[in-house]
Amino acid sequence: MIDIYQEELFDHYKSPRNSGSLSNPTIKINDTNPLCGDEISVTVKLKEDTIKDIKFDSRGCAVSVASASKISEELKGKKIKDVLKLDEKFVLDLLGIPISPMRLKCALLSLRTLQKGISRYKNNEK
Ligand code: FES
Repeated sequence: MIDIYQEELFDHYKSPRNSGSLSNPTIKINDTNPLCGDEISVTVKLKEDTIKDIKFDSRGCAVSVASASKISEELKGKKIKDVLKLDEKFVLDLLGIPISPMRLKCALLSLRTLQKGISRYKNNEK
């Protein structure tokens, strides 16, 4: 029997939300999952310290694409300081399915890349 969460995640994989890239983003960052070499790029538009818009361009596995899609829906309207505090548990709760240790890096790739981009942006601001 297919779990409802799995069906929902499959839909995020097949039709990722907020996929692509924004023009004139405040933050733009690319990163790679070191375990497989799959790439992701993230573009963000900020208004003051809040995420106004976000897009992910993910060329990874189903878990990484579905994770980026779910995260993109969740983080619009959030303050960047709060996004920096999000951890593994936030992503796993969002996905709602057991993730093997092998796949953890895939699940976290989008959040970690975004957090890296935010940190870089904050450092450049100083
Ligand atoms: Fe590459 Fe998951 S196998 S991101």
